[in-house]
Amino acid sequence: MNQYIVNGNRPLFGEVTISGAKNAAVAIIPAALMVDGICRIENIPQISDVTLLFSILDELGAKVRVLNQHAVEIDSRHIHSTKPSFDLVRKIRASYYLIGALLGRFGQATVAMPGGCNFGVRPIDQHVKGFKALGAEVTEGNFVEAVAKSENGRLVGAPVYMDVVSVGATMNVMMAAVLAEGITTIENAAKEPHIVDLANFLNSMGADIKGAGTDSIKIRGVERLNGGTYCIIPDQIEAGTYMTAVAATGGQLLIKNIIPKHMECISAKLMEMGVYVEEIDDTLLVRRSGPLQRAKVKTQPYPGFPTDMQPQIATVMALAEGTSMVTEAVWNNRFRYVDELRRLGANIQVDGRVAVIEGIDHFTGAPIEACDLRAGAAMVVAALAAHGTTEISHVQYIERGYEDLVGKLRAVGADIRIVEVPDEDLGMENIG
Ligand code: EPU
Repeated sequence: MNQYIVNGNRPLFGEVTISGAKNAAVAIIPAALMVDGICRIENIPQISDVTLLFSILDELGAKVRVLNQHAVEIDSRHIHSTKPSFDLVRKIRASYYLIGALLGRFGQATVAMPGGCNFGVRPIDQHVKGFKALGAEVTEGNFVEAVAKSENGRLVGAPVYMDVVSVGATMNVMMAAVLAEGITTIENAAKEPHIVDLANFLNSMGADIKGAGTDSIKIRGVERLNGGTYCIIPDQIEAGTYMTAVAATGGQLLIKNIIPKHMECISAKLMEMGVYVEEIDDTLLVRRSGPLQRAKVKTQPYPGFPTDMQPQIATVMALAEGTSMVTEAVWNNRFRYVDELRRLGANIQVDGRVAVIEGIDHFTGAPIEACDLRAGAAMVVAALAAHGTTEISHVQYIERGYEDLVGKLRAVGADIRIVEVPDEDLGMENIG
């Protein structure tokens, strides 16, 4: 197990290149199971969630051939199981995508579900509702078992109306519908960039999906998916995290390989707080030299401010002049990291889904924990700005979703290093 040791209060200067999007990769890799051929996937982030998914695919009979650091070839022509083992699946929340993929292609899937979670109840009722609408029988217990009821084992296209805007349910039902007989419509669909990316991936393999990125998606079922090549989009949240890092420390970063449209909600908030942000093609120039201004933010589904940037922006607000406010409208318990920020001196009061933040002059280094992926990223942002030394433990959460965070930060002048500490069972599951 690793810890990060950060000597803070140093502005960041230089360039950082953004990796492939984690939340696209963790859906596209399971979706590769649906392809009756070989698919080549590029711009895959090197993160532990991805490594774990490769192990799951391998166990099911897919052949995963690593081509280079960021590209693989997946051959799913000879899948021999639709029941991935509990021990692998429980470690990653996104394993629920295995249900949509396996059910869609083979008419059955038995996948263990992770239990509770780190930032509130994480039901999958909308996923299940969609599978049932497409003609599956679904039983839920320690495992979710889904079986297509039709004689030929294929699902049957149908209209699905989502009661809540859910990224996971939208993608899972989209996957299940791709090989179904007939037309499926998903209304009140989520619109996140990774939903469009998954649809583009599936379409490039032969699927017929229209409307991804709007709240109404239409999927015309096809007989089979063939192989092909696909390149994953850059990670909006990784880019946003570096933006908040330079906002907290001061300095100037060129953040390369981004899709400007995806960054607008984050750029707008930081500009409101006094950060200079300039878009230059697929690069953002981000500079902070003056004081930070207070702001209010409410998390929302895309194109609103992303919940996965909430801990990082709250960390910047903790250093802004005056009183800021954060409302978490997606998850019901995503403020657990506030106790850790307080150890660094932050003045934050939480009442339910609202955090009221009184800006302070600076953080002071202390031992703190990463309590989940984005909370962990926020702890790094805080530590980079803090006076003195901060030790961050449980950083394996961060490594689930950020490729080489330490290396990228060191390259722009951060004093951050990894130290190994004795192992401890952290029951690392259920998040992300
Ligand atoms: N919800 C339901 N029923 C469902 C599904 C969701 O009520 O069947 C509710 C949830 O309880 C929540 C809201 O709907 O209140 C939104 O949940 P959503 O399904 O959109 O979340 P998710 O698909 O489980 C993904 C990301 C999360 C990110 C959320 C919201 C992945 C693997 N995870 O989760 O990312 O916070 O969307 O954008 O894509 C992260 O990367 O750190 C992370 C947690």
